[in-house]
Amino acid sequence: MNAKSIIRRKRDGAKLDEAEIRFLVEGAVSGAVSEYQLTSWMMSVFFRGMDPRETAALTVAMLESGDRLDFSSGGTPPADKHSTGGVGDKISFLVAPLVASVGVPVPMVSGRSLGHTGGTLDKLESIPGLRTGFEPEEIRALVDRVGFCFAGQSKRIAPADAILYALRDAASIVESIPLITASILSKKAAAGVRSLALDVKVGEGAFMSGPEPARALARSLIATAEQLGIRACAHLTEMDRVLGRTAGNAIEITESGRCLRNEAVPDDLRELTLSLGASMCVLSGRVADRSEGQSLLRRAWEDGHGYEWFLRMVEAQGGDPRALERPGLLPVASRHLEVAAPRAGVFRGVRARPAGEWITEAGGGRLRTDDRIDPRVGIEVLAEPGSRVDRGETVLLLHLGDKPAPQDTCPRASGWIQVEDSGASLGVLPPREMERIDSA
Ligand code: URA
Repeated sequence: MNAKSIIRRKRDGAKLDEAEIRFLVEGAVSGAVSEYQLTSWMMSVFFRGMDPRETAALTVAMLESGDRLDFSSGGTPPADKHSTGGVGDKISFLVAPLVASVGVPVPMVSGRSLGHTGGTLDKLESIPGLRTGFEPEEIRALVDRVGFCFAGQSKRIAPADAILYALRDAASIVESIPLITASILSKKAAAGVRSLALDVKVGEGAFMSGPEPARALARSLIATAEQLGIRACAHLTEMDRVLGRTAGNAIEITESGRCLRNEAVPDDLRELTLSLGASMCVLSGRVADRSEGQSLLRRAWEDGHGYEWFLRMVEAQGGDPRALERPGLLPVASRHLEVAAPRAGVFRGVRARPAGEWITEAGGGRLRTDDRIDPRVGIEVLAEPGSRVDRGETVLLLHLGDKPAPQDTCPRASGWIQVEDSGASLGVLPPREMERIDSA
């Protein structure tokens, strides 16, 4: 067996067997298969696809590239939530501490920026001192102590995903159902979760632009999860517009702190947090139905438990919890640019895809695997979605880092602002959640 012939077979549309897939995954981790060969193979998968058997084999090989945590010693089995990638998506920072605070353990293994979308780990690492690289034993200890943690793939937790994920990002090989399925589930299974609420993003700013491909991704994730002993459900949610009021790294941590303290929580963040959190509570057996789950989480939120648990996690992971309250302790932009509404009318939001692409180019994401993230870069939506804006009114603030902003940045950003005719209804925005696909 050799990498060249396996790549050629996939390039020409063949189905790979388990041994071939394992050969490449093991070779990725040992270094026996080069990065250019892995990239070429994944590009072939991107165009040729994989059937459910190949997808499951890839997921298992990636899972078995490292350890698998075992939480089976009693108590509520661990649950998790994962998004397929969005812009301004900070739901993990809200839902994980809230769900943990009601007694469901959440060992959350997440990713970094991918394509034009932000990464949970990059955002968290803007908190001074906070670490996300842990040995499996440390993850277990954090979950026992705090109820949840945020960790990344590592040499022992889904190491194959760490390698393939970074290559897919740099080589634009993200929007592939089998590759997304294996990437998400290998790290979730490695963390030992027994149930999983999936936030499958749909729209211009998502990797799946329409409902049909999003449903296909959801079905692939649910079916593969079941083969790994994980109960899963999928929420299809709109990702045309930036989620919440910020996108970037440090700025999303600031917004998450505000939300957990119950200070002006945007409707969409509240809606998705409660909905995904309720699914985690139901799937883990903590509550009997979604409405009980929502009430439990709403109460925990109002009582400040989500915020308290988040601060505990920051401290336990080596970060400075004061950063959540003193904005000067988080990295802040060196310059700002104000962006005006292109016309008068009802403000709907900011288009997620071009905004995410700008954040990446400006240093908030990676263009190469070895790029360093600039945590200061981001955007801040100043106008309330659903409110009336005037032509020329500042509705968006761009937060800049070290990279110079091209001359046309503001006119370009003005094109991301969605304004509808003044006749459109004020204050009424459709819910983000479009449909739910439950575990079979
Ligand atoms: N999240 C992941 O962990 N992997 C993907 O491929 C996409 C989203």
